[in-house]
Amino acid sequence: METKPEIHYGLEGVYIAESGISKVDGTLGRLYYRGYSIDTLAQNSSFEEVCYLLLYGKLPTEDQLNDLDKKLKKERAISEDTKGLIEGFADKLSPLDLLRTAVSAAAEDDSKPYSDNEAENVEKAIRIIAKMPTVSAAIWRLRNKKDPIEPDSNLGHSENFLYMLSGEKPNAEKAKFMDVMFIIHAEHSSNASTFATLVACSTLADIYSAVTAGVSTLKGPLHGGADEAAIKMMRDIGDPKNTESYINEALAGKKRIMGFGHRVYKTYDPRARILKAYLERAKDSADEDVRKLIEISLIAEKLMIERLGESHGIWPNVDFFAGPLYLWAGVQTEVFDIIFASSRSLGWCTHIIEYWRNNKLFRPLEVYTGELDLEYVPIERRS
Ligand code: ACO
Repeated sequence: METKPEIHYGLEGVYIAESGISKVDGTLGRLYYRGYSIDTLAQNSSFEEVCYLLLYGKLPTEDQLNDLDKKLKKERAISEDTKGLIEGFADKLSPLDLLRTAVSAAAEDDSKPYSDNEAENVEKAIRIIAKMPTVSAAIWRLRNKKDPIEPDSNLGHSENFLYMLSGEKPNAEKAKFMDVMFIIHAEHSSNASTFATLVACSTLADIYSAVTAGVSTLKGPLHGGADEAAIKMMRDIGDPKNTESYINEALAGKKRIMGFGHRVYKTYDPRARILKAYLERAKDSADEDVRKLIEISLIAEKLMIERLGESHGIWPNVDFFAGPLYLWAGVQTEVFDIIFASSRSLGWCTHIIEYWRNNKLFRPLEVYTGELDLEYVPIERRS
C-alpha cells in the first residue's frame, strides 16, 4: 500500500524560492525591504525611493531617483479606452473587479507584452506601477458619477493619488500618511497574491497577466479585503462602550476578528505598529465619526491582545488600523483594496522579475482520494 505523503495545506511552512527582496521576521515582528527596516523606510523614505530600492536592489542616487520619478510621471496617464472600459462596467462590478479588468488591458499599448529581457521587464513594471493609482482613482470617480481627474506631474506618486480621488491637493500630513501606506503595503514576500503572480509568471505568461492574477488573489477578506471588513465591524460596534461585549460575543461564537492574525507574524505586525502611531496622532484632527472608529479600534486592539495575543499568537495585522486612517485621510471604504493593489503592484513586479531569473514552472501534486477504473454506464442506463 502506498504511504500517504504529508500534505502542506495552504503551503504552510513550505519554502518556494530564494529571494533577496524582503525579509518577514514573524517571531520578532520585523520587516525589511532589501535589508532596510520598514520603520526606517516609513520614516525617511518616499514611495518613489522604495520603488527604486525594490526594483533595482539598492537605494538610488539623486539622479537615479529623478530619472525614475520622471518615468513614473510619464507613465501615469491612462487611455480613453481604459476609461471607457471602467465606465462601461462601473455600476456592475466592484472596484477590485474593475481594477483587475483594467490591469488586464494595461498591455494595450505594449506590442511585446512578454519579454525575457530583465531591463525591458523593469520598464513594463514601471508602467504598471505608475498606472495603477490612476486607474484606481478613475474607478472610484466613475463609480460615483464623476469625471476622472488627470494626474498632476507636480505631485509625488501617493500625493497625486489622493489628488486624483478628490481633486484637492492634500495637506502635508495626509500626503505623508498616504505615502507611508504605499510604502508599507508595497511588498511582503511570498504572501498569497504575490505567490499567485509567481504561479502565473512561472508559465512564462507576461507581467501584465501575472499582475492580474495578483489583483484577483487580493480580493478575498482573508488577504486584501480585511481592512474593509475591520471597518465594517467597527461600524457595527457603533459606540466605543459596546466594543467589549461585541468582541466577547464574536469570540464566543468562534468568529474571526478581521485585522488580527497572520500566517507569518505570531507577534505584533511591525506595519500595524507604524499605523497605530499615526492613529494616535490622527485622533485629534479626526471628525466625530472617525474619532469614534479610532477609539473603538484602540479598545478592540487592547482586548484582542489580552485574549489572543501571547496565548494564541494572534496580534493586530496591517489591516486593522488602516481603515480608520484611510477615512481620516478622506479615502472611502470602497477604495481600500484598490489602494492595497496599487501599492503591492511594486512587490508583485519585483518578485516576477526576480523569479524569472531562475524560472521553474509551479506544478504541485495532489493526493487523489477518488475511485479508479469505474465502469462507464451509457446515459440511458443510469439511474
Ligand atoms: N480572530 C479570531 N480567531 C482567529 C483569527 C482572528 N482574526 N485568526 C486566526 N484565528 C484562529 C482561528 O480561528 C484558528 O482557531 P482554531 O485553531 O481554534 O480553529 C486559529 O486561530 C488558526 O487560524 P488559521 O486560519 O488556521 O491560521 P492562519 O495562519 O491560516 O491564519 C489568517 C492567517 C488567514 C490571516 C487569519 O489569522 C485570519 O483569518 N485573520 C483575519 C483576516 C485578516 O485580518 N487578514 C489579513 C491578513 S494580513 C494581509 O493579508 C495584508
